[in-house]
Amino acid sequence: HVDENARAILAVMTLEEKIGQLYQISGEIPHIEEGLRQALQLGHLSSVINETSVSTINEMQRIAVEESRLGIPLLIGRDVIHGFKTIFPIPLGQAATWSPDIIEQGARVAATEAAKCGINWTFAPMIDITRDPRWGRIAESLGEDPFLCSVLGSAMINGFQTNDLHNNTAIASCAKHFAGYGYTESGRDYSYANISENELRNVVLPPFHAAVKAGVASFMSSFSDLNGVPASANEWLMQDVLRQEWQFSGLVVSDWASISDLSVHGLTENDKESGIQALQAGIDIEMVSQCYRNHIPELLDEKRISIEQVNVLVSNVLRTKLRLGLFDHAYTDPDQFPKLVNQYNRDQALLAATKSCVLLKNEHQILPLSRYRLKNIAVLGPLADDPYEQLGTWIFDGNENDSVTCLRAIKEKVSETTQVNFVKALNTSRSMSTEHFAEALKAVENADAVIMVLGEESILSGEAHCRANIDLPGAQVELVKAIKTLDKPSVMVIMAGRPLTLENVVDDVDAILYAWHPGTMGGSAIANLIFGDAVPSGKLPVTFPRKVGQIPLYYAQRNSGRPVNEYNFVAQQDIPIRAKQTSLGMANNHLDTHYSPLYAFGYGLSYARFVYQNLVVHSPSISTKQNLKLSVNVSNVSHTTAEEVVQVYIRDLYGSITRPIKELKAFKRVLIKAESNIDVDFEISASSLGFYGRDNKFVIESGRFHLWVGGDSNASLFAQFEII
Ligand code: IFM
Repeated sequence: HVDENARAILAVMTLEEKIGQLYQISGEIPHIEEGLRQALQLGHLSSVINETSVSTINEMQRIAVEESRLGIPLLIGRDVIHGFKTIFPIPLGQAATWSPDIIEQGARVAATEAAKCGINWTFAPMIDITRDPRWGRIAESLGEDPFLCSVLGSAMINGFQTNDLHNNTAIASCAKHFAGYGYTESGRDYSYANISENELRNVVLPPFHAAVKAGVASFMSSFSDLNGVPASANEWLMQDVLRQEWQFSGLVVSDWASISDLSVHGLTENDKESGIQALQAGIDIEMVSQCYRNHIPELLDEKRISIEQVNVLVSNVLRTKLRLGLFDHAYTDPDQFPKLVNQYNRDQALLAATKSCVLLKNEHQILPLSRYRLKNIAVLGPLADDPYEQLGTWIFDGNENDSVTCLRAIKEKVSETTQVNFVKALNTSRSMSTEHFAEALKAVENADAVIMVLGEESILSGEAHCRANIDLPGAQVELVKAIKTLDKPSVMVIMAGRPLTLENVVDDVDAILYAWHPGTMGGSAIANLIFGDAVPSGKLPVTFPRKVGQIPLYYAQRNSGRPVNEYNFVAQQDIPIRAKQTSLGMANNHLDTHYSPLYAFGYGLSYARFVYQNLVVHSPSISTKQNLKLSVNVSNVSHTTAEEVVQVYIRDLYGSITRPIKELKAFKRVLIKAESNIDVDFEISASSLGFYGRDNKFVIESGRFHLWVGGDSNASLFAQFEII
């Protein structure tokens, strides 16, 4: 009855009440002052962002529900991005689990904690595809691949919303930022995004379409200037694609002041014109700026918009409130909820952090370290014992006092007779001072092994925190090189909100464990992995470049007419001195770096060793209506039981537009016992092999395909099939 009820409410609303439903204010309200109380009593407010006090939220809801004429409850929004009080790894880290189950469970924990405090709407998941690690918000993304992001983003939506939005632990989720935010020029936040419609449809939009199919309650328009029409005024995006093609019936919220920003973009002259453009595009709720509130009456008087247009926006908001069941239960009763940061939630955060860490290097199987044999361990680095920084970006509500740091977890793990000497060595990751290096060297000199916890503090990634150089910042590279001179077994743990370019240190350490910003339980997860109480199983959701100049570097590149390969690759040092008159090469590579990434998409080592064999494509010729069925045998040829993420890539050999050289089409995280093997089956629908062609219409073309199965995007076990 949602539509019917929304219509009934709309029918009796005054214009002021309607405009109120399109307005969100910023919270953090010390007390409900008179102006706000009146607005609530008059029904002139739809939503509050950033209020987290239970008593204030309940009181605002009470005024809205009991003292206003129509009793319309409020949407209480908050950025619950990777946990509320119990902090999970940053979304990019969660994506490294390649586990929809873990991601769904993490969102469930976050939603339950947030709902306890009266929050009923989160601005997550962020499903912007990005291929630029300079961009600070890559931390909040689910990586570079549309398929992986679609699966994981949908899982996060399910976790927040459950399949019943009336459930008192469910909160509405929000697919953001629609669209193109991750393609911001040069990785600079808020900048221009020049994306062809074809690239939008094949790469950027699929996770958003998947979100609609997963039942996401809301969308957020992006800050981006998309091809000259900023998203908050982009009628094509909001109307043609979202509402008409995808039949989305939830609500669309602007980003923070992104409607009034339209005039800053230079799209409009003033707030009034911004209001009309956003309204015509179909943005339902205006986040904090007041273009709608101040100008809708005037725009109606001037007949530049119609009341029917306003009604459509208001209906979208009312339907969402009805779907959430807010008219039946607007209040929260915290006593009905489990404790915040309880043991179960911490266990889930630990699981997520453990499975998100990616083992990038493990020379001579130096890891796991033996907690018994080592008598003296040096722990170094600015991130080894910083309970706040390990939480990552967007953690408004997390409390560093709940964190377990690496140093603490390592000390708890090793035997009583093992000495752990900690030297921070650098005050922050950005510090250039080497004054504490001597102390660090001394600690390492006396040690049997060194664990360096390096990377970036959380402030170096996130919104408007972009970097042009993505090497380890400050004097960290110098620190690694100094430690290397002592030739001790060395483990480098990296905490960061993005892929860093590690080529300049990769040969200086024995092992590298990439931990992202791992959240509340990060230290325990890392210590478990280092000392073998857990086995690394994370896989990269994003390509790691060698050098910043390679960006954008992603596995699903186009072949080009002159692809580089091991035979035609020429590096600048190999070019003969007198090559002036001749062409210097014929391939699409840079001269001053290898063409490959440092670490490929999907890559991640284990303490176990897996062998892939017996790839069978059961039906190598399928019609456009059929599914491709395949199976592969994966053996664990080690003494360590472990999980592996089995990945299936295809290449569509030719098409009406050029096709990527590889595309992920299926994956499964499986547990394989030591010295045993399992068959893993996959089914890939022919429709998922289709794409948007020259006319930007979806097509499944017949033709030949290559297929690879393995543990990363360089998988080599090969088969072929065709669509007939
Ligand atoms: O949800 C966020 C968005 O991702 C960036 N700007 C602010 C919003 C609300 O905090």
